[in-house]
Amino acid sequence: MTNILCIGAGYVGGSTMPVIASHCPEHRFVIVDINEARIAAWQSDQLPIYEPGLDEIVSQTRGKNLFFSTETDRHIAEADIIFVSVNTPTKTFGHGAGRAADLQFWEKTARQILENSTSSKIVVEKSTLPVRTAEAMERILNSNTKGLHFDVLSNPEFLAEGTAIRDMQNPDRVLIGGRETGSGRKAVERLVELYAHWVPRDRIITTNLWSSELSKLVANAFLAQRISSINSISAICEKTEADVSEVANAIGRDERIGRYFLRASVGFGGSCFRKDILNLVYLCEHYGLPEVARYWEQVVLMNEYQEARFAANMVASMFNTVAGKRIALFGAAFKAHTSDTRESPALAVCRTLLEEKADIVMTDPYALDNACQDLQDLGNQITYEPDPYAAARNAHAIAILTEWPQYTQLDYERIYQSMVKPAFVFDGRNLLDHKKLYELGFNVYPIGKPALTRLVNHGIEAA
Ligand code: NAD
Ligand code: UDX
Repeated sequence: MTNILCIGAGYVGGSTMPVIASHCPEHRFVIVDINEARIAAWQSDQLPIYEPGLDEIVSQTRGKNLFFSTETDRHIAEADIIFVSVNTPTKTFGHGAGRAADLQFWEKTARQILENSTSSKIVVEKSTLPVRTAEAMERILNSNTKGLHFDVLSNPEFLAEGTAIRDMQNPDRVLIGGRETGSGRKAVERLVELYAHWVPRDRIITTNLWSSELSKLVANAFLAQRISSINSISAICEKTEADVSEVANAIGRDERIGRYFLRASVGFGGSCFRKDILNLVYLCEHYGLPEVARYWEQVVLMNEYQEARFAANMVASMFNTVAGKRIALFGAAFKAHTSDTRESPALAVCRTLLEEKADIVMTDPYALDNACQDLQDLGNQITYEPDPYAAARNAHAIAILTEWPQYTQLDYERIYQSMVKPAFVFDGRNLLDHKKLYELGFNVYPIGKPALTRLVNHGIEAA
């Protein structure tokens, strides 16, 4: 039996370890966190995150070979392998503020491992980190005077929220980076063996440490770049009556381009894309590559433009003012099937409309608590309403900001009847049947497609 510890019981720690534990019943897994409330939630029937399939896998493993705890020091001492999946947010202070990764939680963890270890261990970077972080980790850990040896591996996580369990069960690839030394290679092999319990060997890629660390930032940069690319095209579609979905389909059929991540939207959100690209930008600057930095920075700037453009189109279409108008925001989560609101475009649009003095009501099936927390600086300016019908009642407009499938099933005739006329739908996810909505009487403004409106000077031109 191997004792496996994961430090950080967030989205990543909390969804990866139960899957690994379910495939490796002979090993013992403990997940620790400094956040006591979070650990208590993991030990309860009300898990701290909503993720399809997670409840089942936690209930299969918890109390058998998977345990949650706040006693980090004790579990470090017992562990043979330690995964570290603490948060690595963007720095908000000092040098590199707004771009570089804030590694304070990371370094604290390294020192805690150092202090509490009484045996040699493998330490696995699961968090997304700047390239060459493992070097600092190795230096801290191997500075010990107890004669202990630590092998540091990089094993970045590629799961996406909302499909985390499916992604873990059937990953496109598992990436493991390690040192090319004897003990480095042995450590890599131990981790390969763990994943090989359910992942075919040919999908387990081993590389040097720096390729592995960098690949994670690059994967997110490439994915986000595709969204910014199609979103930039959505703007020109709106000017030319081309349809962005048709364009995406036409180009995506080319196998060299591929069809994924070409859905035009109000913008990408989530805790990773923005943070990781800005981190890449910072690293490029640090290594004296300003042209490369500007190239990737543009992906983030295009995303900000798209969010701002969406909100500006709303205001322009609604006769250049939304002041005092009730607007129902459908969706707070950054994508469907998650309660996560980090960097959600819904919150950015909400803030802009509030600056325009709109009367905002926000609805979401799972993410209202998180939205309320994220927007607490706005006090009681927003109404949170779990029922979309109640949210839309007496509203001038609905904005679809998260692609929840349940929004396609609503009775839009009933919604239309309950709204102020002219009634508007701004579909930031191109989710709904626009023609049908138009026939019901709505003025419909999709992303990257001609607006369907009976109003003259409908405002798109003015935006
Ligand atoms: P999170 O904020 O949900 O969870 C991190 C957890 O670490 C928190 O619960 C925090 O309390 C805990 N923590 C911080 N310092 C600690 C310490 N010293 N001891 C014990 N616990 C500590 O973050 P997340 O979304 O799980 O992301 C974690 C890392 O994984 C980040 O680097 C992120 O970039 C990366 N990542 C995230 C995703 C994703 O979809 N969320 C996907 C791939 C990679
Ligand atoms: C992302 C990466 O996909 C994942 O591999 C990595 O481990 C963590 O970051 P995540 O942020 O959870 O995962 O979700 P993802 O599905 O990538 O979506 C990110 C954002 O892009 C969401 O706001 C989503 O709505 C948006 N998106 C995605 C689009 O706007 N258009 C698309 O075509 C795809």
